[in-house]
Amino acid sequence: MSVLDSPLPIAAAPMAGGPTTPALVNAVAEAGGYGFLAGGFATHETLAAQIAEVRERTSRFGVNLFVPEAGAVDAAAFRAYAVECQREADAYGLRLDPDPFVDDDGWAQKLALLTNDPVPVVSLTFGLPEPRDIVALQRVGTRVLATVTTAEEARAARAAGADGLIVQGSDAGGHSATCDPRRDPDPAPTDVLVRTIAGAVDLPIIAAGGVDGPDVVRALLDAGAEAVAIGTLLLRTDEAGTSQVHREALSDPAYAETVITRAFTGRPARALRNGFIDRHQATAPAGYPAIHHLTAPLRQAAARAGDADRLHLWAGVGFRHACAGPAGDVVRRLVEAS
Ligand SMILES: Cc1cc2nc3c(=O)[nH]c(=O)nc-3n(C[C@H](O)[C@H](O)[C@H](O)COP(=O)(O)O)c2cc1C
Repeated sequence: MSVLDSPLPIAAAPMAGGPTTPALVNAVAEAGGYGFLAGGFATHETLAAQIAEVRERTSRFGVNLFVPEAGAVDAAAFRAYAVECQREADAYGLRLDPDPFVDDDGWAQKLALLTNDPVPVVSLTFGLPEPRDIVALQRVGTRVLATVTTAEEARAARAAGADGLIVQGSDAGGHSATCDPRRDPDPAPTDVLVRTIAGAVDLPIIAAGGVDGPDVVRALLDAGAEAVAIGTLLLRTDEAGTSQVHREALSDPAYAETVITRAFTGRPARALRNGFIDRHQATAPAGYPAIHHLTAPLRQAAARAGDADRLHLWAGVGFRHACAGPAGDVVRRLVEAS
């Protein structure tokens, strides 16, 4: 049972917010891997343009979407956190919106785009949609993958009709796919999680989280994954759209570790530990996407100012092994020695 028809068992994990570009997807696919476009945060128009650009060079790609969540945020906790974040924003003369804003990331428009103009694979993160949405994608020939972080989520994905799983371990960079943003991901290594889920649910698995070289790839394939998705290892590559300040932080010895935090978006995510996390880790409430929208202008200002201290520097535990250079070389190195 294979869901990704790529010669090499390596996929470019989707990385929304800039790092994933059509050029990165194409480079990974042309090296023999499988590419994923990041549909999250993008408008459906931008996503359509990116799909068209990728298709000019490959058909070996999928699209990742954020499944909208209820987004409930405690009103008092939000207000208190907005006051805290406003103090940070004062450094840039910025006024943050003190009222929670919740959206669905354009779910219906993106679903309409992908059912009218199908792609081979759609991967979902942050939960499961209505089963009818999964069926709508499958009817047009798309294989639907659900990102899961526990055996329970894997069973729910199977019951909802998913064709395969992306099993994301807690070592992964960026947001945890967990359906419950109040819960920190289980710290078990990704290969242990893959083995547990492979034993519990009969669906093809793509493993993601913490890959720093060929040994981890081999361990994940041995644990039962048919392919391995890499995010952090691609962040510094030539084709990635990662900001300069993020690229530099990844190789800066001042950043010694990654931590899981809700401070930036209200949903657990792994990032290089910086001052913003240290100042807000204890008080940040769960509440995605409200906290994401609250801090977004602050983070944009930080990126413009080259201020890594207030930026969400998403990174997995393997960040020290993220190299500059062509993405194709990263993909080839992971399998050559395995
Ligand atoms: C900068 C960044 C952005 C990410 N954005 C997304 C996303 O849009 N959708 C998603 O499903 N996962 C996202 N992730 C998680 C990755 O898909 C993947 O699970 C993770 O990168 C794998 O772990 P690794 O970073 O240790 O390789 C992101 C990860 C990073 C580092």
